[in-house]
Amino acid sequence: MYRTHTCGELRISDVNKQVTLAGWVQRSRKMGGMTFIDLRDRYGITQLVFNEEVNAALCEQANHLGREYVIQVTGTVNERFSKNSNLPTGDIEIIVSELNILNAALTPPFTIEDNTDGGDDIRMKYRYLDLRRTAVRKNLELRHKMTIEVRKYLDSKGFIEVETPLLIGSTPEGARDFVVPSRMNPGQFYALPQSPQTLKQLLMVSGFDRYFQIAKCFRDEDLRADRQPEFTQIDCEMSFVQQDDVLELFEGMAKYLFKELRGVELTEPFLRMSWADAMRYYGSDKPDLRFGMKFVELMDILKGYGFSVFDNAAYIGGICAEGAAHYTRKQLDALTEFVKRPQIGAKGMVYARVEADGNVKSSVDKFYTQEILQQMKEAFGAKPGDLILILSGGDAMKTRKQLCELRLEMGNQLGLRDKNKFALLWVVDFPMFEWSEEESRLMAMHHPFTHPKDEDIPLLDIDPAAVRADAYDMVCNGIEVGGGSIRIHDAKLQAKMFEILGFTPEKAEEQFGFLMNAFKYGAPPHGGLAYGLDRWVSIFAGLDSIRDCIAFPKNNSGRDVMLDAPGFLNQEQLDELNLVVDVKE
Ligand code: AMO
Repeated sequence: MYRTHTCGELRISDVNKQVTLAGWVQRSRKMGGMTFIDLRDRYGITQLVFNEEVNAALCEQANHLGREYVIQVTGTVNERFSKNSNLPTGDIEIIVSELNILNAALTPPFTIEDNTDGGDDIRMKYRYLDLRRTAVRKNLELRHKMTIEVRKYLDSKGFIEVETPLLIGSTPEGARDFVVPSRMNPGQFYALPQSPQTLKQLLMVSGFDRYFQIAKCFRDEDLRADRQPEFTQIDCEMSFVQQDDVLELFEGMAKYLFKELRGVELTEPFLRMSWADAMRYYGSDKPDLRFGMKFVELMDILKGYGFSVFDNAAYIGGICAEGAAHYTRKQLDALTEFVKRPQIGAKGMVYARVEADGNVKSSVDKFYTQEILQQMKEAFGAKPGDLILILSGGDAMKTRKQLCELRLEMGNQLGLRDKNKFALLWVVDFPMFEWSEEESRLMAMHHPFTHPKDEDIPLLDIDPAAVRADAYDMVCNGIEVGGGSIRIHDAKLQAKMFEILGFTPEKAEEQFGFLMNAFKYGAPPHGGLAYGLDRWVSIFAGLDSIRDCIAFPKNNSGRDVMLDAPGFLNQEQLDELNLVVDVKE
């Protein structure tokens, strides 16, 4: 062994012990005849002391150590004169008697400190150095703990972990697939799973009534802070369950994780909000409920008074920002610019301040009497000092989504999105289908194996767009942390679903025959859910991006800049795979 102790474990009770440590040189300082070095490993930092008067040669050697050199030292634990209360090892230091350089190091391209001077790109390129930073390492440690606790919880509930293949067939619906050419089957491709969805359903047919897997999933979609092309799900499926059973078990898991990993006791049952209400009151299927500002519809109050923008609108709605009437004209103009950005797309914003005397002053005063404005104030329950912000538009759903962006922005500006506060809820009763403009057809909102609500089955033939699904998402702080559904286990209903989705029976057979056939051999009623592991870890760690809890993530263009992947194949590999590459500009 290269060491007797780690850099994080020595305490005052160890004084006078002879110890050997090994690690990286974090930093060194020379003060008079003394040289101090902070030695770092995964467990912490210990101060090393070299004294010129005691051993000049050794001290000279220490003076030549560069940052990130890998060294081994032997010495005696000593009580520190000036203690460092920021470090668990801050009461002691090591008076070094022997120094061994295990490996020299180039100067790192950025400082290995919590507050590093390295920008995103350089840290991604040298991710192995970035991972040496305590702040990043802690995220991976939390991730490790989370997977351990997940396994403990699910094992205690009788779940069995089963691995499913990564080389599977491409299926339509959902995001784009990543595909892998098959050398042995020229011209044919595997697809990497977007999730183990069909495989876990087949495991239910096999009788594994409680399955889980910490599963890698791959989706070729546009990336965002909470989306990576390659991510990890805690994927689960259960047989002989109804929606409430699934929600209860996985709500239990969320509570268990909060308690074990954050010390937070969530005692209340999670709120269950229908998708329709979530859209209506928050303009989002993943509302951030850490703060209020619930939407108030104003069509009845504000339409018909000659303000053409409102008079022509299909939706007028607003939010009330408590205590924000102090917003200046400049701030309000900036908010208007914010909602007019092309990504949001509103045409403009109307505002109204509730003044100290209760009167309402709005940007559209000339169209409305104080009496109407008071009615509006009542609708919001607004008080003196509050600020009302209103959007309108020709498409209710689009306007609600714009209002959602405005609400979140106000939440940010007013400091209402505290990372140490957690607001969890289930969003339930999703629509079964959504209309795809791109494909001019109905698409499954969750996936095509989702069971419609029993009471809505008769609507499948007459008004499929109105059918609700036995589908649910768990939302935490405005982030979808999990989603699932009760599945169809009846081959006939499944065939009907494919028909509504525009598949011919032949096409459905070709794409999903394996599943529909399996269902003919005694499929139990089943349902499940998948949690996004990366999202859970990043919420628990208070991160802005899931990238920070993934050891080797991709950047926003889907590249691994450290490995420089993806890359081109050489001609030999292409020939072997029977591939001809013809890149269109
Ligand atoms: P869904 O597509 O909702 O459901 O995914 C489940 C959860 O996975 C996480 N997630 C992601 N995390 C990071 N990057 C991504 N690109 C990404 N995409 C999804 C989210 C999401 O809630 N098979 C179904 C589950 C089921 O029905 O049982 C599925 O994959 O947290």
